[in-house]
Amino acid sequence: MVSSLAALRGPAVTLVDDPFAQASRACLQYHEDALVLIEDGTIRAFGPYAELRDTVPDGITPEHFPGHLLAPGFIDTHVHYPQLQMIGAFGAQLLEWLDTYTFPAEMSFADAAHAERVAKLFLRELLRAGTTTAMVYCTVHPHSVEAFFAESERFNTRMIAGKVLMDRNAPSPLLDTAQRGHDESLALIERWHGRGRQLYCVTPRFAPTSTDAQLEAAAALLKSRDGLFLQTHLCENPGEVEWVRELFPARSSYLDVYAHAGLVRPRSMFGHAVHMHEHDFCTCHQTGAGLAHCPTSNLFLGSGLFKLFEATDPRRPVKVGLGTDVGAGTSLSQLQTLNEAYKVAALAGHKLDAVQGFYLATLGSARALGFDDRLGRLAPGHEADICVLDPHATPLMAFRAGYCASIEELLFMLMTLGDDRAVRATYVAGQRVYDRDRAGDPFHL
Ligand code: GUN
Ligand code: ZN
Repeated sequence: MVSSLAALRGPAVTLVDDPFAQASRACLQYHEDALVLIEDGTIRAFGPYAELRDTVPDGITPEHFPGHLLAPGFIDTHVHYPQLQMIGAFGAQLLEWLDTYTFPAEMSFADAAHAERVAKLFLRELLRAGTTTAMVYCTVHPHSVEAFFAESERFNTRMIAGKVLMDRNAPSPLLDTAQRGHDESLALIERWHGRGRQLYCVTPRFAPTSTDAQLEAAAALLKSRDGLFLQTHLCENPGEVEWVRELFPARSSYLDVYAHAGLVRPRSMFGHAVHMHEHDFCTCHQTGAGLAHCPTSNLFLGSGLFKLFEATDPRRPVKVGLGTDVGAGTSLSQLQTLNEAYKVAALAGHKLDAVQGFYLATLGSARALGFDDRLGRLAPGHEADICVLDPHATPLMAFRAGYCASIEELLFMLMTLGDDRAVRATYVAGQRVYDRDRAGDPFHL
């Protein structure tokens, strides 16, 4: 087989370790002029251009991005693609918001053509935001998963997604049964899990919409193949937590509902986790389960403030990733999500620095997903999913960048002022799939 080679050159940043466990400075690698050499979609070499220039094979001219920042593609650990049509819906907290806006929106996915249209837009909006991997909720309809993976396969993006399981407490057109949800999920697993870069995620929506039988079926599904993921919601809103207490009186906590069913394990990702007790954090630490911090959503729905620095306490660290949670979240941009994460930490008296922020959006999310051997870093052997950030994307950013005295200040400026405008280009497995400045269609397929 003929191998395909590509090279990118420019200033570059990547996380190399966990800045919640040690000094931030030691966790960030920055090269003023770097080379990323890519072979067959994988990074073969990464380092200073001056040291690596001789390794560039004849005939390959690095694509050069002076004044930009090469960075690992962002990873979004919690997002709902069917909710694009009701992002920014007014005036409700979680349970009322689900009934008023979310379930009606998801019902429109009974139409497969609608699912295909939204999946197309969603994938493009992710890439426009520099996000190359996401853990995605589809709807209860199997064809919503089909539409999503089919579109992801066209871009060759590494995506993790699944059919929502709900067998109670939702409108009847959105309900399956424990058996039907199991069988439909299994068929999707057989069709999509491990096909190219697509991976399947068993997806019980949250405890109130699944019976014990369905949660047990979800655990059985996880055993059906190696490397499957699980996603669900946990301890998001006080009214929801109280409802779970009433629905599962025998369980010691909301997390215990999932633990009892066998769903708390590595590659399980729990969204929100705002109202957690120390015991729950210990369970996550011991089991290797991950939490998705979704600050724009938690602020928008008035859910509460995630205790990031308690969760990541080095004495019993819990793996935390960053989630946009669109459509309760208000942006698909991980830069904007970090902007809000900083403020949420500030309200609790903590300072989320830029290195910690970029860790959450890249390597930290990859670790929370159990995928840090291949995703979330610029490093040899890692998949070449890369975003090219533009610190001069707007007149204000260009002006402000002139006053940044260090790479940390520049990154902090990007996470405060940046959004999709600050993403110049996005590469997936070494291929440029998005170019903001390309005339006409910015997406390459
Ligand atoms: N809890 C159950 N379903 C959902 C959802 O779709 N979004 C959010 N934010 N929380 C949920
Ligand atoms: Zn969610």
